[in-house]
Amino acid sequence: AIPVLCIDGPTASGKGTLAAALAERLGYHWLDSGALYRLTALAAQRAGLAVEEAQTEAIAALARALDVEFQGERVLLRGEDVSADLRTEAIGRDASKVAAWPAVRAALLQLQRDFRRLPGLVADGRDMGTVVFPDATLKVFLTASAEQRAERRYKQLISKGVSTTLDAVLADLQARDARDMSRSAAPLKPADDALLLDNSTLTVEASVERVLAWWQE
Ligand code: CDP
Repeated sequence: AIPVLCIDGPTASGKGTLAAALAERLGYHWLDSGALYRLTALAAQRAGLAVEEAQTEAIAALARALDVEFQGERVLLRGEDVSADLRTEAIGRDASKVAAWPAVRAALLQLQRDFRRLPGLVADGRDMGTVVFPDATLKVFLTASAEQRAERRYKQLISKGVSTTLDAVLADLQARDARDMSRSAAPLKPADDALLLDNSTLTVEASVERVLAWWQE
């Protein structure tokens, strides 16, 4: 089978940074599954659909028809570079809402599995190890304290010129954790065979080396 390395974990745990670095080191493809939920939210916004229960089917149809291309760090939606639009807090919130709907998750399942190509794949998200790639070669569940994650997200936002407070960021992050863990469709939790990595006090390089050591075992 084509090798897959899954990195799952809560918001702002550093999954994306770790997964990108691992894909680079291994020469593998990278699936940023969160980007697909963000793209679905963005497609809904562009189609003028409110992200609410009544639009579940219409938004799932958009997810099923998503015309997306990943070019390194850039994400193209119908050929247009939407990388910056995807990273806004509003799209993040809407992504977390559509991600709770089973119809949207089902619509994105095959698209995610299609990323599994030679020589291999590093996939990051919430349910890579539990739902999308249950037979993965290695599953890592990345954690960090809420305070640590809030501080990282806060610094990111400030550096982008967004005006906010650490308390507001922490409250938003805790609300998102609660929503991700309590939803009935693919709730956030480690797979039974996942290895836990708490990176609260680890540098990115140290985390990369830790996972590569597991990978080579
Ligand atoms: O930056 P953050 O980790 O919050 O966001 P992300 O990884 O880009 O994911 C955006 C949203 O999509 C998250 O709030 C999750 O609720 C959802 N998601 C999911 O349900 N399943 C995945 N495999 C990836 C993301």
